[in-house]
Amino acid sequence: MDISKLSTRYQVVKAEKEDAEMIYQLCHGNPLYYQYCPPMTTVEDILDDLDACPPNVSKDNKYYIMFKEGQQLVAVMDLILGYPRKEIAFIGFFMMNADMQKQGIGSFIVDECCQYLGQLSYKYVRLAWIKDNPQSEHFWIKNHFVVMKQTTGLTVQEKLMLAQRATGKENVMEFIELAGSRYSCRKFTDQKVSKEEIDLILRAGQLAPTAVNFQPQKIYVISKDEDLARLQNCKTNCFSEQLAMLICYNKDVCWKRSYDGKSSGDIDAAIVTTHMMLQAKNLGIGSTWVMNFMPEMIREEFNLPEEIVPVALLVMGYPAEDGVPSPRHASRKPLEETVEYL
Ligand SMILES: Cc1cc2nc3c(=O)[nH]c(=O)nc-3n(C[C@H](O)[C@H](O)[C@H](O)COP(=O)(O)O)c2cc1C
Repeated sequence: MDISKLSTRYQVVKAEKEDAEMIYQLCHGNPLYYQYCPPMTTVEDILDDLDACPPNVSKDNKYYIMFKEGQQLVAVMDLILGYPRKEIAFIGFFMMNADMQKQGIGSFIVDECCQYLGQLSYKYVRLAWIKDNPQSEHFWIKNHFVVMKQTTGLTVQEKLMLAQRATGKENVMEFIELAGSRYSCRKFTDQKVSKEEIDLILRAGQLAPTAVNFQPQKIYVISKDEDLARLQNCKTNCFSEQLAMLICYNKDVCWKRSYDGKSSGDIDAAIVTTHMMLQAKNLGIGSTWVMNFMPEMIREEFNLPEEIVPVALLVMGYPAEDGVPSPRHASRKPLEETVEYL
């Protein structure tokens, strides 16, 4: 990587040991960060960070860099290329000079870095911030990073929000393209869906709106071969799926309309399912929404409690060669038939 290309406005240089004091001064100007991620850093910590690398990552992929304007230090960034996967660049640390904040400079730097990393064929930039740090959260969300996962742990440093952003527009599927390319896939290869992909699909479901935000959904992930085999007893068609999610709602939790008692359960579960189905597609994973299952058999087979109502079964996997759209996929009623302007 030619680090000078990370910014058109600032000089970008690799931080050396003699820069540690200057970096320390910049960090010291941002006490809020260390309030959420204690303790306050020291020059020794910074010297260690200059070389620190995640396990199994070559030092050649590590760039602890400074953005400078003349003698002034504008920002520092710890960037790891190809981590945790080869198409991802990871920002381990990014901090702005406190005197230069709130002028859009941080966003400008991040935008340019993402652009250049995209040119180098990194598809995503990933990072994490400490949960509840409002400054970090606002900054990264404003800069189009989407939270993929929250980690939990005992220490503050383990409570992380893991987020990523696509580097180039070409990596972001237009929504209409995503919606149009999804189809009910009814034949899958034997490739398993990874834990990371499952987490992302679940996260998309978690982001779904629900009535009064009661979030009555309950999702059962069926991924073990023996459980997938048991599932086949509860439905008529088998699509050789490698993963299934049973989306249910808890009838004691969902919202009920006071006028007529109508429950939001089915609707909430359907929106959750739709989010997950589209996220799966965005990962290249095929799915079919299956309603034709025997709810009482599923209840018995998987020991569902009485208050849980199964709504949808999302069967998933990587599309097989012949896992192509059915003729029904291309058939949509004209809008004039389904839409009326009043
Ligand atoms: C609520 C609902 C229930 C469905 N149930 C089944 C099902 O039990 N079995 C099945 O093969 N497909 C099922 N489907 C898939 C539809 O048949 C399919 O979405 C529709 O024919 C349009 O095709 P496409 O998804 O390929 O665009 C269901 C879809 C929805 C939304």
